[in-house]
Amino acid sequence: LVDGELKKWTGKTTEVYSTISSTEEYAPTLLGTIPFMGEAEANEVVASASKAFNHGQGLWPTMKVADRIKCMEDFVSKMKTTREEVVKLLMWEIGKSLGDSQKEFDRTVDYIYDTIEHYKQLDRSNARFTKSQGVNAMVRRGPIGVVLCLGPYNYPLNETFSLLIPALIMGNPVIFKPAKNGVLLISPLLEAFQSSFPKGAINIVYGRGREIASPIMKSGKIDILALIGNSKSAIALQDQHPNKNRLRLVLGLEAKNPAIILPDADLDLAITECITGTLSFNGQRCTALKVLYVHESIAEEFNKRFSKAVDELVYGNPWDKSVSLTPLPEVDKPAYIQGLIDDATGKGASIINAKGGQISENYIFPAVLFPVNKEMRVYHEEQFGPVVPIMTFKDIQEPLNDMAESNYGQQVSLFGKNAKTLAPLIDALVNLVCRVNLNSSCQRGPDVYPFTGRKDSAVGTLSVFDALRSFSIRTFVASKDN
Ligand code: G3H
Repeated sequence: LVDGELKKWTGKTTEVYSTISSTEEYAPTLLGTIPFMGEAEANEVVASASKAFNHGQGLWPTMKVADRIKCMEDFVSKMKTTREEVVKLLMWEIGKSLGDSQKEFDRTVDYIYDTIEHYKQLDRSNARFTKSQGVNAMVRRGPIGVVLCLGPYNYPLNETFSLLIPALIMGNPVIFKPAKNGVLLISPLLEAFQSSFPKGAINIVYGRGREIASPIMKSGKIDILALIGNSKSAIALQDQHPNKNRLRLVLGLEAKNPAIILPDADLDLAITECITGTLSFNGQRCTALKVLYVHESIAEEFNKRFSKAVDELVYGNPWDKSVSLTPLPEVDKPAYIQGLIDDATGKGASIINAKGGQISENYIFPAVLFPVNKEMRVYHEEQFGPVVPIMTFKDIQEPLNDMAESNYGQQVSLFGKNAKTLAPLIDALVNLVCRVNLNSSCQRGPDVYPFTGRKDSAVGTLSVFDALRSFSIRTFVASKDN
């Protein structure tokens, strides 16, 4: 989708496979083909988006708020008609369960409506006058420029749209490249994008990052890089911009969220929350719990019950309603997970659940590893998959020190009952991460709450409220009392 046109592609294509087999004998399923774009298309979309912005004088950034809202409302009503098709593709492309795929779609629709509401509120506050030292001012928020938007494979619709939608509604033209896994599910939305927004406001390209995203950055015409993914890609893309001072960043990156289970924790609750926290969508969430710190006095009991609960999880294909574990969409992930397991077991950890680590093609049964120590790769790396490292602690200072040394700082889960013990701990933890979840697992939502992180975990803040601010700049009109 370039300059309002859905172009017929006659160039090179690349095939998109699902790791889910549709035959009894395992074979990846061919889902479709996508254009494989490069520098020429990069130049076209950059020209289209730059023209739409036209130094802030273009149709999209100058459009009346009410009209921009109409475009967004038109889009979301058309989007709703694609639910069945998008949900099906979510299951096939990334192996997300039926229930979670439906939730991802519905959450995205709600996110768009909530964004529209917050945008209306923001516009009302834009119209307010303030006065200080004889200067009257009307402060408002306006667009910044062209946005390059890249989303992750684990929420190819919802998280990507939590960048794209606020960026767009604030009047910024967007160039969007879907993730490698989770690319076809954008196709049913192309016509809705095309017919709801003016030319060049939204441009969509396909292809490999280095072939298409690199030349877009090198053009120097990108004002905001909005990316959810890994820091390596974010840094590589920033480095290609010829003038980094002009580049604003909105980034959601890696995390290694810990759970700390105190001696007085309600174990039933802690286990239920840690199961969801570590293994929902097979652990492929940036907010997943990626290491469990259990007080040594309760470790034996916790490990026994947690491992049993893991072994009770059912895996299978995403459309089977009883299933919570599904195939991993990344072809090379099983080998990576196996590498983490081998490294940990080679250094003294054991797989403590009976079914742990069984691998068949891209179906991996989660491995619970104990005792994990800092020599092991799984302690340091964001596994983003079905492997659960458990560590013990004697003194609460041990997990706090580890968190302080970590490169990440997104969230933590804290399980315990005694308010006197919890209060000072919470004070310490909020300075290490951005969200402390009391007796509950980590998560991004509800989407009204700030979603961000310290250190290498994030740059900027998302939420239906914050994202509108992340994708805009405050300007004002002033007059003197004279
Ligand atoms: O992958 C990171 C997502 O932001 C996780 O979102 O907590 O709603 O699953 P979630």
